[in-house]
Amino acid sequence: MRHERTNALRTRWPIVQAPMAGGPDTPELAAAVSNAGGLGSLGCAYMTEAQIEAAAVKLRTLTSQPFALNLFVRADAPSDPSAAARVSPILGEFRRELGLPAEPPPGPPTPQFEDQLEAVLRARPAVFSFTFGAPTREQIKALHARSIAVIGTATTVEEAVVLASLDVDAVCAQGSEAGGHRGTFLGSFEEALIGTITLVPQIAARVKVPVIAAGGIMDGRAIRAMLGLGASAVQLGTAFMTCPEAGTSEAHRAALATAWRTVVTRAFSGRPARGVRNRFCEAFAAVEAAPFPQQQRLTRDIRAAAAAQGRADIMQLWAGQGAPLGRAMPAATLVELLVREAGLGS
Ligand SMILES: Cc1cc2nc3c(=O)[nH]c(=O)nc-3n(C[C@H](O)[C@H](O)[C@H](O)COP(=O)(O)O)c2cc1C
Repeated sequence: MRHERTNALRTRWPIVQAPMAGGPDTPELAAAVSNAGGLGSLGCAYMTEAQIEAAAVKLRTLTSQPFALNLFVRADAPSDPSAAARVSPILGEFRRELGLPAEPPPGPPTPQFEDQLEAVLRARPAVFSFTFGAPTREQIKALHARSIAVIGTATTVEEAVVLASLDVDAVCAQGSEAGGHRGTFLGSFEEALIGTITLVPQIAARVKVPVIAAGGIMDGRAIRAMLGLGASAVQLGTAFMTCPEAGTSEAHRAALATAWRTVVTRAFSGRPARGVRNRFCEAFAAVEAAPFPQQQRLTRDIRAAAAAQGRADIMQLWAGQGAPLGRAMPAATLVELLVREAGLGS
């Protein structure tokens, strides 16, 4: 059974390196994981169509193994001037501190999901994964018509049932421990903060498609536990952030080692995401951030300047709750270690 389900992922090992759009994932990281028998993923959510196609070309120069491309399924609300006015005094303070001009420069528009998906269809990865919502049935059919397997992200049983009814090939069950954005697309995100240990068996009991467990999985012990709870595979993000192939900055790596406390915050992008608590998150504890992706655009140069200046008190420091359990080693070595620890090879 497990062997058959692992094949649904099209990989030797039931281990997925999570897509991590915006820096931590790189073609080098994804290719190293795929070459080691896992499924490497590349988060393409912030890429234009041309960038997505170029990334796939680059990946194919680095690996002949299956890999996944990943997108955010979004229908963006129009920018809200009152939200911009609400957050501007807070952002203005950080801009001054970082030596940025008073107003953010007009950046490129956020690429549309439909256009990005066209690029994925042309790039034809073995796997397409998504979060934040659900594509239409027609979009999933178009992916299947090109032999692209489809993995959708669910943070509740209800979401998993919706995804399964759309004929996805696997559901990634994202527990509340997970680093980065919450995938929640039905109801409030607070009610969808369900720990991986309880989410995985409930989703596995309700849907027929394979379940990929995500959130807080850092070593082979946790992989074994998840497979024992009904998962067919696991997806690890934070654990791969400390690999040398990852694009994680030095300040971010240092913060992960002592990330005993993380928070789910809308401060950086407007959507709830888990990261290390810092002064920037705290500034938005009492003031509501602008909606996604407006907040993302408004904070773009602040996040870039904070990262360039190594300002861990202002930077976006995505991290799962397992971050201090991270082990810095090449991705292939980490995959081998996880396989050994979980007893998968035997
Ligand atoms: C830095 C970072 C960026 C992420 N970006 C994405 C993304 O672009 N697309 C996506 O589907 N999930 C994204 N995630 C969530 C992961 O898919 C996954 O749910 C999570 O990493 C699992 O929890 P863990 O970090 O504790 O392993 C991201 C996670 C992190 C840590």
